[in-house]
Amino acid sequence: MLTSWVLSFKKILSVIEEASDCVVLQLPLIPLTRPQLTLNLEAVSPGLMAAIQTLATDGGTETELTNLVMQIDGASQLPNFYYYLEKFITLGLLCYTLVEAERPLATLVPLSLNPQLELRLLRFSVTQQRYRLSRFAYCHRNQEEMVLESPLSHAQVILTDSQCAMLVAELAKPQSAETLYHKVPTLSQQTIQQFLNILLMAKMIGEATEEGKLPADENLALTQWEFHDLLFHSRSRAGRHSNSAGKTQRFVGQFSPQPVTKPQMSKDRIDLYKPDLQKLNEEDAPFTLIVEKRQSVRSYNDEEPITARQLGEFLYRTARIKRIFAKDYGECSNRPYVNGGTCYEFELYPVINLCQGIPASLYHYCPKEHQLERLSGKTPQIEELLEQARLTNFKVSMPQILVVITARFSRVLWNYESIAYATILKNLGALYQTLYLVATAMNLAPCALGTGNTDLFAATVGTDYYTESSVGEFLLGSRPTDYHHLDL
Ligand SMILES: Cc1cc2nc3c(=O)[nH]c(=O)nc-3n(C[C@H](O)[C@H](O)[C@H](O)COP(=O)(O)O)c2cc1C
Repeated sequence: MLTSWVLSFKKILSVIEEASDCVVLQLPLIPLTRPQLTLNLEAVSPGLMAAIQTLATDGGTETELTNLVMQIDGASQLPNFYYYLEKFITLGLLCYTLVEAERPLATLVPLSLNPQLELRLLRFSVTQQRYRLSRFAYCHRNQEEMVLESPLSHAQVILTDSQCAMLVAELAKPQSAETLYHKVPTLSQQTIQQFLNILLMAKMIGEATEEGKLPADENLALTQWEFHDLLFHSRSRAGRHSNSAGKTQRFVGQFSPQPVTKPQMSKDRIDLYKPDLQKLNEEDAPFTLIVEKRQSVRSYNDEEPITARQLGEFLYRTARIKRIFAKDYGECSNRPYVNGGTCYEFELYPVINLCQGIPASLYHYCPKEHQLERLSGKTPQIEELLEQARLTNFKVSMPQILVVITARFSRVLWNYESIAYATILKNLGALYQTLYLVATAMNLAPCALGTGNTDLFAATVGTDYYTESSVGEFLLGSRPTDYHHLDL
């Protein structure tokens, strides 16, 4: 069975024929990912024009394209044709489809302008070596296609034929082209070898090594990365994907963004103390001292727990809404901490264990009214949340207050593409630092936590995991007496 490579332009490339010898190739701009690319080709020979038209439609093998140019232009135009072919490959404009007996099996699609792929497939040949699927490679459905991708790769491989999906599955264990042929004998050995070529070029497979040794396609830096972390890193930064990124607001016209604050959760409300900011401005320790003295404090003075007044001041200085204003797509707010996109997606839920003046319960902080809404008493679930926080806090002490921070995800997801969750985590860091600094200025005991149980908290407050769930926790209490306050 004949195996061949068919070259064709990427589907998103526009080919505009302006005159019989003039053609414009255009790749559209992708926000924050790739600028628009325009190639103006002038004095194009009829043979080259025919080759470009073939690449833009059904595609052709390198031999077919060469023959086309030869037939129409003669051999004199071949160097020019190869010059442009090389240019199209380097710019990542060409896809390679593996075809056996006229049946397309798999297509390699470059994702970036500088795809770092070997220039010619034929120069890049697998040996009798055994190969294994990279632990970073993954299959997923994209519209009606099954796609193999990897955060190591600047390309994706569309698995058009299910036999290729079978080969990918077999590659979970080390395989040579020959052993794969025994598993999937419906494909020729040459085709399997060429399929391995695609996978190798796209960094989906690497040479298999002995058990216990570093895989050949990994080094010490890479071996420390987990699959989900590297995928998140590569897909939330520009460089090796071709997805839209940034504030694209792709749901405009379909549904409205979530409101700036949550609808009321309970009628049982407590007014919180509001500090005099002018007085604080005069009396607070200097900024440098607060920054220098900021530290995590994991034990408390349970003889004299944090007070309702302190909690009120703390929440006012860190998380209240200072101003609500209209944007073209809905309302936004300003709060004391910095927030990417002014989305202000966080909700604060103080789980109060020990606080002078406020009964132990689960509350929600209303940042507009500066009130606490009481959601429930100390249920077993709340005891469990507090106990888990104690364990995460080096088992040092039971928290006086555990502030669970959730995100109303759609505030960010509605606005942003590719970078939404990364933005939420960056915003959380900004909130953490604000909580730390204000707690330090107030001589309270602060400590961020990193590993709360999101499902447990969603079940406790009754939120949908995908709509609003916890992304962080923060412990707060009174400082033990042996902790010296703000002296340098
Ligand atoms: C994102 C984040 C997660 C954290 N998670 C925990 C945690 O789970 N348990 C804990 O005891 N401390 C946690 N901390 C506190 C750090 O351990 C602490 O900030 C670090 O050791 C530096 O000490 P310092 O804050 O006293 O300067 C976390 C801090 C941050 C910013």
